[in-house]
Amino acid sequence: MDAPFCDREKELADLVSYAKSNANVVLFSPRRYGKTSLTKRVQHNLKSHGTLTAYCDLFGVTSVEEIAGRIAKSIYAITQKNKGLFQKAINFITSFRPVLSPGPDGGISVSVQTAFKTDGIKILEETMSSLEKFVDDVNLDVHIAFDEFQEITEVPNSIGTEGILRQYIQKIQCSFFFIGSRRRILLDIFNDRKRPFFQSALNYELQPLPYNDLICFIISQFKKAEKRISEEKASRISQLISNHPYYMQKFCFFLYEEIDKEVTQKDIVAINQVVMESERIVFESILQGLTIKQITLLSALSIEPTAKVYSASYMSQYNLGSTGGIQQSLDCLSKKDLIEKNYETGVRTVVDPIFKNWLIKMSM
Ligand SMILES: Nc1ncnc2c1ncn2[C@@H]1O[C@H](COP(=O)(O)OP(=O)(O)O)[C@@H](O)[C@H]1O
Ligand SMILES: [Mg+2]
Repeated sequence: MDAPFCDREKELADLVSYAKSNANVVLFSPRRYGKTSLTKRVQHNLKSHGTLTAYCDLFGVTSVEEIAGRIAKSIYAITQKNKGLFQKAINFITSFRPVLSPGPDGGISVSVQTAFKTDGIKILEETMSSLEKFVDDVNLDVHIAFDEFQEITEVPNSIGTEGILRQYIQKIQCSFFFIGSRRRILLDIFNDRKRPFFQSALNYELQPLPYNDLICFIISQFKKAEKRISEEKASRISQLISNHPYYMQKFCFFLYEEIDKEVTQKDIVAINQVVMESERIVFESILQGLTIKQITLLSALSIEPTAKVYSASYMSQYNLGSTGGIQQSLDCLSKKDLIEKNYETGVRTVVDPIFKNWLIKMSM
């Protein structure tokens, strides 16, 4: 929580206020825009005003039972330090027992063990029902964040899972945040009429950092370390990373390590290469999961974002093949959140700015 954090004051205030009014929020943006860090800050703020805050990361869940287990675990984890609350959690949550063991940082870490064997949906239902009773009983405001919430669509019987979760979330008197980076998949859960979560939460999109705040932040971070970067150079970084929060940190970290006192143009060029190189393995593994056709289209969109992928000139210039093939590739690339379409202009672009720069470099 002590790490320097750029801006997000309005977002923090908005989200705290939604949480306080017991609203449910879908918080979405491309990966590494700061959703998780911001949520931790929101919860830190709520906690300091007496709210009980649970954080449940659903990344990589493979079964309904595991989803239930992670929910139970998040409740044990926050109550574990308070004897009375922990006892309450144990009394109410009958589906999972807590297992305490020494953590790596000298503290205590909590895991859970199923209390009985039955099918996953029943366990989830039991867990949500326990959560409802627990929240009713504690007499505190409660806030629960589900990070990487779209992962629930990956488990067998995901529609059944959505149904149970929605049924209880509607009843439980607290605020839920549903956070995720796979935007198409996440938003479909909430915006598809036929799905249980349809219109059950406010959509809140996290944007890239505002230019002015980003520039001030970079300049002040260098100043604090008794180094210097001019506004012009900071502006160049902003361009290269498209105001992306994580890449700003990464770029500045490498740059700061590299320079002696004052940042030069040459340093910026060199560090741009270093940043791309540092992500190379990730980018290569993304490409390994794509077909040649998808890669061709992705490269075309990195070189030339367009609203007219299907125009004859664009298709022939980038060797895109048939319109049917393009359609399939577009669908797959946007499901993977690698490309996005601007709703006003219709222009399609590559989401990750460094991935985009790297693709351009690779195609030269
Ligand atoms: N507002 C910010 N100011 C400074 N650094 C940030 C900011 N937002 C995100 N970051 C950096 O980006 C990293 C990734 O953020 P994270 O919260 O994990 O993103 P997400 O959950 O959206 O994928 C953080 O560890 C932090 O270094
Ligand atoms: Mg995250």
